[in-house]
Amino acid sequence: MAGFQLKTGQWWCDAVALETLANEYGTPLYVYSRARLEENYHLLQTAFKALKPHIHFSVKSNANGAILRVLRELGSGFDVVSAGEAYRALRAGADAGSLVFAGVGKTESELIFALDNHLGWINVESVQELELLNRLANERSVKPQVALRINPQIEADTHHHMATGGHRSKFGIDVDDARSVLLQASQYLNLDIAGLHVHIGSQLANTGETVAALQRVLELAALHPIRNLDIGGGFPVPYRPDDELPEPAVFAEAVQQVLTAQAQRSFEIAIEPGRTLIADAGALLATVQYTKVREGRRVIVCDASMTELLRPALYDAYHHIVPVKDSQPSALPADIVGPVCETGDTLGVDRELAEVVRGDRLLIMSTGAYGMSMASNYNSRPRPAEVLVEDRFQRLIRRRETWDDLVRLEE
Ligand code: LLP
Repeated sequence: MAGFQLKTGQWWCDAVALETLANEYGTPLYVYSRARLEENYHLLQTAFKALKPHIHFSVKSNANGAILRVLRELGSGFDVVSAGEAYRALRAGADAGSLVFAGVGKTESELIFALDNHLGWINVESVQELELLNRLANERSVKPQVALRINPQIEADTHHHMATGGHRSKFGIDVDDARSVLLQASQYLNLDIAGLHVHIGSQLANTGETVAALQRVLELAALHPIRNLDIGGGFPVPYRPDDELPEPAVFAEAVQQVLTAQAQRSFEIAIEPGRTLIADAGALLATVQYTKVREGRRVIVCDASMTELLRPALYDAYHHIVPVKDSQPSALPADIVGPVCETGDTLGVDRELAEVVRGDRLLIMSTGAYGMSMASNYNSRPRPAEVLVEDRFQRLIRRRETWDDLVRLEE
């Protein structure tokens, strides 16, 4: 397996020692393994091979141009939810036709960008958006491919902030409205309504809700000819060493069974993986600044924080944390925290961690997805550098921000 391994008492990214990267580029530092990203892509292709899906990497999980270029070279298309993400994907050399553009609040200028750049699919999330798009397309004498994103009103088994298909969710068109649109699709003279889209959430703990959502969407597919069914992403990754979560192949098999049972399949399938491709292909390096003792527990203050990795603070998410030089078997109770002026700025609490002191490096694992893409400059902290490891070589794919970068856009 490529990626992050413990060898000879220290952690490596493929053939590059992480201590070396920390010394050369400083910390906090995002490190990505190209080999692991490629491995994950091929594993996903194999898992879904019976469905022959179009794969659209979810740019919101990681928008770095170098990462997008690797995925484009692998043959991936892109799931984008803003004109900014579409801009990034096109800048990375993506074919416009390989972009699917969802998003519950697309602005008129974003829809115009999508039309003018001939993006592959516009996944519409309300009847009002459909009518606006129809007008804009008419004004430009174009006829874009349109999918209806369906809200199946099914609560996914995931963190409530990551569920997107439930009754009160802001996402998608509800089934009754979608039915009306499909039965009157011909009235939208400037839209080629030929797709359906459903994405019920992220880090899905099981396939049950996916199956139920798909069954509901397929009932709509019987009302109007569709060429493409986009089943979204959400395939989970094991953040904890003992996590037991369904592999992508389990989702693929569940989808295949529903399609076989319920549909005379005349349409193609699309999937929108993010986390499952990039999460464990990335990790965040940090350096211990200070240690304290509070009620018998060590408090380890490091230089990474909620501004580099928001997930623990926002979702109480777990990321495995180990010392880069991991030669001690002993482990002591510890809370690993960041320097930001927020009590919630923690990276890992109630952990067992070997004794570490100022200057030691820590590896915060499975942070390739929703790590840098959710980073911020809160507390006026420059965002970290990103490095891509390619076997025994590495290259800087985003430099560390400076204080000048913080104020560059201000008067
Ligand atoms: N397609 C759509 C329409 C989405 O909204 C998403 C993620 C994906 C695909 C990719 O889902 P994935 O395969 O990465 O699970 N910030 C959260 C994750 C939010 C996911 C939002 N939508 C986190 O840090 O876990």
